[in-house]
Amino acid sequence: MRFSQSFLDEIRDRVPISDVIGRRVAWDKRKTNTSRGDYWACCPFHGEKTPSFHCEDKKGRYHCFGCGVSGDHFRFLTELDGMAFPEAVQQVADMAGVPMPERDPEAERREAVRATLTDVMEMAAAFFEGQLQLAGGAKARAYLRDRGLSGQTQKKFRLGYAPDGRNVLKEHLASKGATKGQIEACGLVVFGDDIPVSYDRFRDRIMFPIEDARGRVVAFGGRALSADVPAKYLNSPETELFHKGNLLYNLRRAREAMQRDGTVVAVEGYMDVIALDQAGISNAVAPLGTALTENQLNLLWRVTQEPVLCFDGDKAGVRAAWRSLDLALAGLKPGRSVRYALLPEGKDPDDLVKAGGREAFDTVLKAAKPLADMLWSRETSGRVFDTPERRAELEKNLREATGQIADESVRRHYGQAMRERIQAHFGAPQQARGGNRGASNRYGGQRRGGRGAGALGGGRLAISESLTRSRLLTAGGDDMPLREAALVATVLTHPDLLADHFDDFTRLDLDHGGLERLRSAILDACATGRPRSRDALLEHPALASQKATVEALEKLIRRARLWTATAEAAHEDAQEGFTQALRLHRRAKSLRRELRAAEAALGSEASDFNFGRLADIRKEIDETESLEALVDGFGVSSGRPSRSF
Ligand code: UTP
Ligand code: MN
Repeated sequence: MRFSQSFLDEIRDRVPISDVIGRRVAWDKRKTNTSRGDYWACCPFHGEKTPSFHCEDKKGRYHCFGCGVSGDHFRFLTELDGMAFPEAVQQVADMAGVPMPERDPEAERREAVRATLTDVMEMAAAFFEGQLQLAGGAKARAYLRDRGLSGQTQKKFRLGYAPDGRNVLKEHLASKGATKGQIEACGLVVFGDDIPVSYDRFRDRIMFPIEDARGRVVAFGGRALSADVPAKYLNSPETELFHKGNLLYNLRRAREAMQRDGTVVAVEGYMDVIALDQAGISNAVAPLGTALTENQLNLLWRVTQEPVLCFDGDKAGVRAAWRSLDLALAGLKPGRSVRYALLPEGKDPDDLVKAGGREAFDTVLKAAKPLADMLWSRETSGRVFDTPERRAELEKNLREATGQIADESVRRHYGQAMRERIQAHFGAPQQARGGNRGASNRYGGQRRGGRGAGALGGGRLAISESLTRSRLLTAGGDDMPLREAALVATVLTHPDLLADHFDDFTRLDLDHGGLERLRSAILDACATGRPRSRDALLEHPALASQKATVEALEKLIRRARLWTATAEAAHEDAQEGFTQALRLHRRAKSLRRELRAAEAALGSEASDFNFGRLADIRKEIDETESLEALVDGFGVSSGRPSRSF
């Protein structure tokens, strides 16, 4: 029902907000000043140990400086307790000792209709649950068992079975007193002008009841048992009770779990949510048969500042992740973002926890990437930026993407971050450093006249030749390039590094064939569980054919005294060595691309500009090369005595 503004104001004014909130939190004695009506507590909306949740009676509002929630009396009750708005009003009115206003009959009627629909949905849920246990549900029970769901989990999520018949549910509900109109309004039957007799929508399916934020069943997802059915999942249509874009599967439970786990994870499917819960991860939600919507993202943001979006490790998953970026960008606020958890190739969360338990999923969560990284990969992955035009296009695309950010300050920071990335990636010419110019003029014609024409001539070949010989750029034939060896050896001797660097290692682009094969063997070995040590890793069958490579690799590492890549190095040192080598590796890769492009450009047009570009790259390479020298002896250079092996 609708309430007049003056009524709401009246009861709000009569009840100090600290009375409403004080029923649910313990005030922090030190920070609170009751005489000023100034209260502090640990925030009930997100887990925390020191109080950053504040409310002020004078203003009648609360605000959490930790997670950003804020609101008034009613908001507190609807958000924290999941009360419907009228219930919240009722409670505050009771506290104020003010009677509720006269009711609006039309709104009343709608509310009553909704209430009866909720009852019908509840009857249907109970019916499906019961059917799962009967003889007709044997096939469905076997299916759920095969998928590894315990009886306890099935009960917890109220899984059920819709029998294979056109009237089974319909007749059951009718016998319990539900009217034809109610059954239709619940979306439980298929009906319409061209359908003479309505029939059960869900037939021969595993049923997943979908609950709203208060735990009432408002819809169903039904999964087919056989593969030859047109839709694997069939979901309830939109009804008076169910607006699929405004709700998330498992939201209520995930919100409770959030208080403990500090975040919420959105995955793609119902089964994923359930499998995760069984593995002990209960803060997962899923959209309801569509891609994540704006409203759903807002729901997530109401629960936590930085929800994690997790997408399946297949092409569709990557595409969905990239599409969700635009949605997320638009809604960013200071401190409010999303992170992206990317699953290993071909895996969904269900597969992952089935094979590797909750640790496997925790590892993926820990490696979740910030939104800015995802944006960068979306715009750059699989593309080569070897011409000024292409780089300008990248810049334009990034500008367009960040332009979607509504919040002015976040937009500014994003613009800056992306410009910095472009600069770090493609290198900035010396004279541009320190200047505050936009990246837009870095690759433009502005440098064209800047070089003396005398530089053209014989020198140009010399540069190109000296570059080709540069160790940094040698692709590595038979002998292993040290940098690549360092990367693989460090992971081999410290497999635990993959907890933080799984993504990095998956994406590593190696030139050396033998090292590349060893790398993919290591990834195979880690796909099903995580070997914790070098020896455990070497025992894995995936590495059986890699003995010779491992031997050669470890010999090289010893000879080069790369002790951070040995099993003796402490975890932190290995990590440091790995990230250092990784940074250089990426830099070298992009310099090599740059170099090729610059040489090609110079070949087709011997202009000052093209020559200047080549000279710039050489300067970069010289700098990077001297860093590389540090890697060669990093034990020594960082002041540690180099060990002998
Ligand atoms: P998936 O195809 O990834 O299913 O769809 P899943 O969760 O891995 O299911 P299992 O493991 O095969 O049982 C993810 C989600 O997309 C929606 C459902 O919400 C599903 O949970 N979906 C999928 C549909 O609505 N209809 C479909 O036909 C398929
Ligand atoms: Mn699945």
